[in-house]
Amino acid sequence: MEDKKRVLTGLQPTGIIHLGNYIGAIKQMVEYQEKYDSYIFVADLHSITIPQDKDTLSKKTRDLIALYLACGIDPNRNTIFIQSENLYHTNLAWILECNSYFGELSRMHQFKEKSLKNQNFTVGLLTYPVLMAADILLYDADYVPVGIDQKQHVEITRDIAIRFNNKYGKTFKIPEPLITETGTKILDLVDPTKKMSKSTENPKGIITLLDDLEVARKKIMGATTDSETIVRFDPENKPGISNLINIYSSITNKSIKEIEKEFEGCNYGTFKSKVADAVVELLKTIQDKYNSIISSGIIDEILDSGKDKSSKIAKAKYELAKERMGFKRY
Ligand code: TYM
Repeated sequence: MEDKKRVLTGLQPTGIIHLGNYIGAIKQMVEYQEKYDSYIFVADLHSITIPQDKDTLSKKTRDLIALYLACGIDPNRNTIFIQSENLYHTNLAWILECNSYFGELSRMHQFKEKSLKNQNFTVGLLTYPVLMAADILLYDADYVPVGIDQKQHVEITRDIAIRFNNKYGKTFKIPEPLITETGTKILDLVDPTKKMSKSTENPKGIITLLDDLEVARKKIMGATTDSETIVRFDPENKPGISNLINIYSSITNKSIKEIEKEFEGCNYGTFKSKVADAVVELLKTIQDKYNSIISSGIIDEILDSGKDKSSKIAKAKYELAKERMGFKRY
């Protein structure tokens, strides 16, 4: 176990996760769990950077854990925990905030985009990447599987860690983002110029993992394409079709070349119905497992042991960072 590389990721419990979240992060974790020492958590502290309904937050957190398991995250191979149950995340975040700069945080793409949408944003929205840095650095993670939208946050984590190490002595491991070739950025099905996102206004643009199967099929069949009829990967000129190719490739593990060959001479209807079959089959498997997990008693057991294990590791790193900065009894 000791010499295995460590992989870690987190997802926010802000709504039912969608195909983009699955392909960008969870599927990668499932693939790496054999090879790496794996950590996956629910980033509930990140979710409150925008207001959350206090009566449903804990339910959404539990649902997300059940979805992790239903997607194939193996509790025997992963440490699964809730971020807010491990106090070292916010403790280290404060230390790191005092080693980060307003300028660099205010230049983050996600901050700029979200703060423009709502001028009355919280300070948490600005310091969000520092909490994410704490999440990663506490565990000496070697790799962080994410979609491309989170790449900049892993990069600033590296900057913060390098800066801290240079100033106070080697304390943190420098992590690398892991981004798959086809799962980088799954796009909205209605408007394939933007990413598939939980906050989208048109529900036809996103497929959540708990969508009704027939509704999911219709969403794929109704996805925006183009006026050509060739199934060809060309993200710039054919974003809709390229997005469906990416989805199909991620689910079936076929390469883009193989898919182009498979659908040579086929019309879009035939292609879309194959993509829909693959999506529906995936959703059905996940939903069957989800339904049995959510009503079983295993979630609390998993979370209790995840809390214990993650807290032990996080405590040691937090104590080291504190000591490096000179916090000790005189
Ligand atoms: P979140 O909850 O917004 O998204 C969870 C994961 O899904 C990926 N993702 C996508 N991938 C492909 N196509 C899309 N359309 C798409 N939309 C979302 C995201 O890149 C992410 O990997 N800040 C993180 C949560 C977090 C975290 C961490 C992640 C907190 N601490 C430490 C890694 C390590 C977030 O908000 O993800």
